[in-house]
Amino acid sequence: MMVTSMVDLLIDLAALDYNYRSLRRLCTPQVKLLGVVKADAYGHGLVPVARKLVAAGADYLGVGSLDEGLTLRRSGLALPLLLLLGILPKEAESAVGAYMEVALFRKDVAQAMEAAAQAQGRKARVHLKVDTGMGRLGLLPQDVLPFLEELKNYRHLEVQGLISHLAMAEIEDKTYTRRQLQDFTTLLGEARQRGWKLPLSHIANSAALGEMPEAHFALVRPGIMLYGSPAHPHRPPPVELRPVMSVTTQVLQLKRLPPESSISYGCTYTTADWCDLAILPIGYCNGYLRQLSNKGEVLIQGRRAPIRGRVCMNLIMVEVTHIPGVKEGDRVTILGADGDARLTADDLAGWGQTISYEIYCALGTANPRRYVGV
Ligand SMILES: Cc1ncc(COP(=O)(O)O)c(C=O)c1O
Repeated sequence: MMVTSMVDLLIDLAALDYNYRSLRRLCTPQVKLLGVVKADAYGHGLVPVARKLVAAGADYLGVGSLDEGLTLRRSGLALPLLLLLGILPKEAESAVGAYMEVALFRKDVAQAMEAAAQAQGRKARVHLKVDTGMGRLGLLPQDVLPFLEELKNYRHLEVQGLISHLAMAEIEDKTYTRRQLQDFTTLLGEARQRGWKLPLSHIANSAALGEMPEAHFALVRPGIMLYGSPAHPHRPPPVELRPVMSVTTQVLQLKRLPPESSISYGCTYTTADWCDLAILPIGYCNGYLRQLSNKGEVLIQGRRAPIRGRVCMNLIMVEVTHIPGVKEGDRVTILGADGDARLTADDLAGWGQTISYEIYCALGTANPRRYVGV
């Protein structure tokens, strides 16, 4: 069945490949690269993105759920997969059976994985998750060595390394990040003194990959920069990146409103003068955030057209009074380039007081995706 949509969401896998290679060049050849493909590859599509990253040479992929991991295995990918959020005990059998590596921070999960690995006559790989200051998943540093001590009883578990996550590596002031790195390094040293090898320990996200070679350890875990956005909207990345996702639509209706006309729900915008208004078939059901009401802009004929009134479920209205000759059916760029003009995910995020990550997830998961550069 052909999928038709008034919103055209394009994923350029050649740009993904380009970004992968750019990031790879920032690391020494011994450092492994794990492509973060959780959340349906930040809305870009799990399987096509994973396939492209594998073809480009990614050593590992990081998924958000067992389900995502199993989908990748079913699509024929045999490389190491890391379940970044860990698993539940009831998922151990399936995770071990599909050769998933697991971020571990719970004893009941360790027990379940040990039992599953023993029953299946194989070893299961875990990465011990440490909370060095993110305040999210992971053992507190003081609990790591006792946990490792207990793991000695689990003969079917192989501890690959320690893993941690950075809370603010994207900002210029690296004081907090250096403290996280210091705590991580100290812990790693202490564990190694007790005989643990922990060959595959890792902490670097995109920001640390780009700016802090001392954070690379044995493996780096970029997400957002693979998809073509900087980790911080106002700090250009150290390498050129190409946006992977772009979104266009078309003018569904064009009309001229007289002065003093109200636009959209709540009448939050009223025209001061005659206004040429283009109505576009994209709204919050397509992942175009309602926070962009009266704030966002689109591109028509390479020029910016501002949103007037509230974003609706399926529609937005933009003013085109200053753009001559706009017609119904004309192409409209929501995200991406039109001639020399460009709207980035960070532009949309800025208007909506959010981050590029959320823009990608929202648009990417709400619309049919079309792939080029496969
Ligand atoms: C554990 C973990 N590692 C790495 C990443 C990748 O981060 P980024 O997209 O900022 O590169 C994420 C993303 O949130 C994550 O949760």
